[in-house]
Parts: sequence; C-alpha cells; structure tokens
Amino acid sequence: MTKPKVLVTRRWPSAVEAQLAQHFDTVLNVSDTPMTPEDFKAALASYDAVLPTVTDKIGAPELELARPQTKILANYGVGFSHIDMARVADHGICVTNTPDVLSECTADLAMTLLLMAARRAGEGEREVRQGMWSGWRPTHLIGTKVSGKTLGIIGYGRIGQQMARRAHHGFGMKIIVQNRSKVAPEILAQCGATQVDSIEELMPICDFVSLHCPGGPENRHLINTSRLNLMRADAFLINTARGEVIDEMALSQALWFETIGGAALDVFDGEPRINPVLRDCDNLVMLPHLGSATRESREAMGFRVIDNLRDFFEGRAPRDRVN
Ligand code: DGY
Repeated sequence: MTKPKVLVTRRWPSAVEAQLAQHFDTVLNVSDTPMTPEDFKAALASYDAVLPTVTDKIGAPELELARPQTKILANYGVGFSHIDMARVADHGICVTNTPDVLSECTADLAMTLLLMAARRAGEGEREVRQGMWSGWRPTHLIGTKVSGKTLGIIGYGRIGQQMARRAHHGFGMKIIVQNRSKVAPEILAQCGATQVDSIEELMPICDFVSLHCPGGPENRHLINTSRLNLMRADAFLINTARGEVIDEMALSQALWFETIGGAALDVFDGEPRINPVLRDCDNLVMLPHLGSATRESREAMGFRVIDNLRDFFEGRAPRDRVN
C-alpha cells in the first residue's frame, strides 16, 4: 500500500518526525518558516494530509480550490481558530487537534504568568539585567500576595480546570468560573469553585482573571473596555488562550492609566507582531507563546497527531476530530 503523502508545515521534535516518517510519505518544511497563502494552496492541492500549526492561517484564500487533494488537517495544537472551519467543511476536510497532552504545561505557564505579574518579576528581571538594581530596600518593587486570593477563570475546559487545581490546591485561592455551558457540580467541587452566569459578574469580584476560552471570531475582543472597567484597580489579567480575545488597545489604556493592577500575556493579536503600545507598559509581562513549550508536551502533541492520522488513513474515526 502506498503511504499517504503528508506535509509538516514547521519543524517538530525529532523523535516525532522520525516516527511520522515510518508511517507516512513525509515532507518537512525544512526552512521552519510560516507558509504563505500560495504555499498553502499548493499544499492543499497535492498532499493527502497537511499538519498545520497556529502560525498557518487556513481561510478563504488558501481554500480557493475546486477540489483539494487534502483529506485531513491534523493540527499540531489544541486551538484551531486559525482554521476557517466553515470553509474547510465545505470541502469535506476532516480537522483534528491535540487536546489533553498540553493542559498541565499550559496551566503551569498561566500560573507562572500570574505569579510574575503579582510579584513584578518581569520588572525585577529587567532591572537586574540592565544593571539598574541599587540594592535591597523595604519599598522596592512591592507586589501583591497571591495565596488566599480570588481567581476568576473564563473558560473551564481542560486547561482552565488545571489552572484551578494549581491555584486552589497550591495557593489556597478561591475559584470563580465563567463558562459558556453549565459545568458539572462534581467538576466544580474538585476545586471548591463557584460558577457565575456572566463575565460582568466575575470581573468585579476577582483579584486575578485568567483566560482559557477558545479564540476565533466569536470570542474576538471578549475582554473590552467595558469589561476591563469592571475589574478592580488592583486586579491582574492573564492570557494564555488566544491574543484576539483581548482588545489590546483597551488593555493598554487600562494598564497605562492603572485602572487595573497589571497583566501578563503569552499570546497576542496578530502575533508575532506586538502592538507597540503594549511595549511601553511596565505593569505588563509578555512571553512569546510558550504555553505548551515543554519537551514532554511538544512530543506528546506530535504523537497525538500521528495517532489521529493513523486512525484516519486506516479507516477508524480519529479520536480528536473536531468537525
Ligand atoms: C495550542 O495548542 O493551541 C497552542 O497555543 C499552540 O497552538
């Protein structure tokens, strides 16, 4: 049997690339740069499977094809808001993702950001590195205590729940949840969490708010000026979900005029471009989309893609099909 022709759009961990090559006729994008719409269009016309990542936008220009050769987009990552699901469905293409295997590491990073923002770790690191530290003093870089505070979690899926576990069991935080559907009482009980009906209800009662909802058009600018205005003046906003969920101009105003205490972002609207207004905010921690960036998660994500592809091409329903 001829092996399915598979395009990997970026470099993956070498153990995963080796295993892919055992099962598939694999082509690697050795330059490890994001593909252009033209490259993508050509790929969709010639490969049985394309394995995109968050840096590969797959929308109308890429899918202007009468009949693509590609039958499956096996996404390397859990979020798939870079794929226009309606257009993909029009072409009958299966889409899979890689849930579970990155939830713990992404929640670890969200907790890292929360702690960095609360304890002004970014400012401190910059000060030491730039040779500006003049020594210990009682009033230097005073932050906010985390233990026992209230954490609001918007989006209570796998990553949101892992965040709650860390915050509640590790730091004794009280957990408030907002989610688009009702969360089972036994899931809430695991972290003593309370679900509220709206973001409007959650914002004013939290010391920290962490975003764990999907991106995409439906959640674009979910956090806008009016919702930021509901946050306490000493509260912090954390985002490891998707950049477009926050209106960054509104956030920069809130940070600049200190209507909130601070923020920490791992994701940006239009990344890797960073809105220049954000760079000027000292009370903002910024990381380069590192949520799942551990050896363990990145390998497990790749092996999960391979499982999905094998299921698909061997006639089984892929475990992580999302459409
Ligand atoms: C994910 O898995 O969604 C990460 O953000 C990378 O795409």
